[in-house]
Amino acid sequence: MGRHHIRLCMSISCWIRGANQIKDYMTRHMGVESGETMKDGSFSWEAVPDCLGACEMAPMIQLDKDFHGNLTPDKLGHILTEASKHSPGSKDDETKKHRNAKTN
Ligand code: FES
Repeated sequence: MGRHHIRLCMSISCWIRGANQIKDYMTRHMGVESGETMKDGSFSWEAVPDCLGACEMAPMIQLDKDFHGNLTPDKLGHILTEASKHSPGSKDDETKKHRNAKTN
């Protein structure tokens, strides 16, 4: 598994709203298929058949512990770029969580 792990929901709501486009983007952008890890170890991903419980934001992914939805390939590109700057559990990641908690 990569430093970041992505689960792409392929269940009905996400599928209807374009999960296949997101899947194609993931394969092209990362250069690996579902279930594989990028050579540099930064990301792994998997297409999951089960609903992740966030249909209102379809199509969506779970990136580490966070959900990201209403995805387009462009939006996903930005999310992956930002994630690549941080490691899960790092000080940066904890600072971001703390900042988000204060604003919610
Ligand atoms: S179908 Fe994707 S979150 Fe429910």
